[in-house]
Amino acid sequence: MAIDIHPPNWYPQNVPHEYGQPNEATIECFSELLPGSRILDVAGGYGRYALPLAKRGGYDVSLLDIDTNDLERASSDAACLAGEFGAITPIHKDILKDDLSDLEPFDAALCAGFIYLAPEEVVRSIFQKIVSITKPGGIVVVEFATDRIRRITNDESTLLAGDDEVQYTYEQGLKLVESMYRVIGGAEIRSRRRVRLNRPYYLRSTVILAKGQVPG
Ligand SMILES: C[S@@+](CC[C@H](N)C(=O)[O-])C[C@H]1O[C@@H](n2cnc3c(N)ncnc32)[C@H](O)[C@@H]1O
Repeated sequence: MAIDIHPPNWYPQNVPHEYGQPNEATIECFSELLPGSRILDVAGGYGRYALPLAKRGGYDVSLLDIDTNDLERASSDAACLAGEFGAITPIHKDILKDDLSDLEPFDAALCAGFIYLAPEEVVRSIFQKIVSITKPGGIVVVEFATDRIRRITNDESTLLAGDDEVQYTYEQGLKLVESMYRVIGGAEIRSRRRVRLNRPYYLRSTVILAKGQVPG
């Protein structure tokens, strides 16, 4: 189903694509999967999560993103993955409007660094799309940043934030995440306070990490 806000005014344009170190707790969410399992990393960027998941877990990670430069960067960084397991498959798609039904269902899916900028109905719709492409029994992991605070600095560009990006308080974010996961029977929630993203974003937030399982 296409999401009816396009191009979205909540997503910032022309931001530098550097998002710091991946969150180990997020990677840990996939540890029960066997090597060779297939993971879909939605809006996965240049592979901040896809690469360590492929390298360390030996997973076949499909990296879905709208940005071809990020996908090329990830593919080139993945050239070292020549072992029996562990691969990155770039998928150039727009999660808001493109159909995913041509993809084989996945053992697990991840969406980090993305949906918490969008209005609630868009967040729910993306989540449903992700669930629809995950196998029964598969894992769905979402990172949802709340209470976001940006430090204003001389080198900050106004382009670093979307015009109408949505700010969720921790309570609002938790309520939304819990309610969207209810459709698959609920989520295990972990929160990380005071997550910092330094230059150029200077962003502090409380990140909700949610993990649920599609009913078998
Ligand atoms: C802040 S980055 C996060 C990347 C990655 N998930 C991570 O945590 O490192 C957000 C990503 O969303 C991608 N993106 C934005 N709009 C998209 C869309 N409509 N469909 C797919 N990807 C999109 C951007 O290109 C960017 O790579």
